[in-house]
Amino acid sequence: MLGSGTQPRAALNLGGMSNLTLLAADQPVLGFDCGPANVLMDAWIEHTRGMRYDHDGMWAAQGTVDPALLERLMAHPFFATKPPKSCGREQFNLNWLRSLISPGTPPVDVQTTLTELTAQSVAAALRRARFAAEEIVVCGGGAFNSYLLRRLRAATDTLVRSTAEIGVAPDTVEAMAFAWLAHCALSREAGNIPAVTGARGPRILGAIWPA
Ligand SMILES: Nc1ncnc2c1ncn2[C@@H]1O[C@H](COP(=O)(O)OP(=O)(O)O)[C@@H](O)[C@H]1O
Ligand SMILES: [Mg+2]
Repeated sequence: MLGSGTQPRAALNLGGMSNLTLLAADQPVLGFDCGPANVLMDAWIEHTRGMRYDHDGMWAAQGTVDPALLERLMAHPFFATKPPKSCGREQFNLNWLRSLISPGTPPVDVQTTLTELTAQSVAAALRRARFAAEEIVVCGGGAFNSYLLRRLRAATDTLVRSTAEIGVAPDTVEAMAFAWLAHCALSREAGNIPAVTGARGPRILGAIWPA
C-alpha cells in the first residue's frame, strides 16, 4: 500500500518508537526500529508541563537544540547496532533522559533536542542502510507533528510527507497492519519477513484460543 512501485520509498512510523520500512522494486523489503520518537517527547512535556504531548511540536519549535545533549543521547549503543533490531521503553525512558540532562538546561531546549534526536536518528539509519529514498512517507501519531516533519526534511534532505497525501490516514496504518497479520494467521500463512524480525525463516504468527 505504501510503496511507489517504481521509486525507492521509505515508510516511517512515528509512534512511541520510530521504525523504518524500506521499499524498493529491486530489493527485498527491509525494516527496523530507528530509536525513540514520541516516547521521550511525551514523557518530557508531561514531566515539566503536565501535558500529554506537544501538540504539532509547537513547544519544541520555540527552543534551540542543545548540541552536547544531542551528542549524549545519540551515543546510546542502540543507534549503532545493525538491523534486525527493535527497541522499547526499557531502553528509552524518562530516567535515561534525565540522567543525561545538565543542570540549568532550559526545559524547552530539551524538547527541541528530543525532536532533533528523532529526526537525526532516522537520517542516520537511512545513511547506514545506504537507502537512497526518493521520499519518506510518514504514519503514526508523529505524522501530525509538523515541526518534527520539518526537522526530518532538513536532516534527510528528502521529500517528507504524511501517508495522508498518498491516500492512507496516518493513524490507521498500524491497525491495518494488525488486521493483515490476523488475516495471515487465520489463513495459516507466514506473516513475518525474516530479514525484519530476525527469525530463522517464515513463520505463522500468533495463536488462536477460542473462548
Ligand atoms: N497533533 C499532534 N501533534 C503532535 N504529536 C501528536 C499529535 N497527535 C498525536 N501525536 C503523537 O503521537 C503519539 C501517538 O502515536 P501512535 O502512533 O498512536 O503511537 P503508538 O503506536 O506507539 O502507541 C502521541 O502520544 C503524541 O505524542
Ligand atoms: Mg505504533
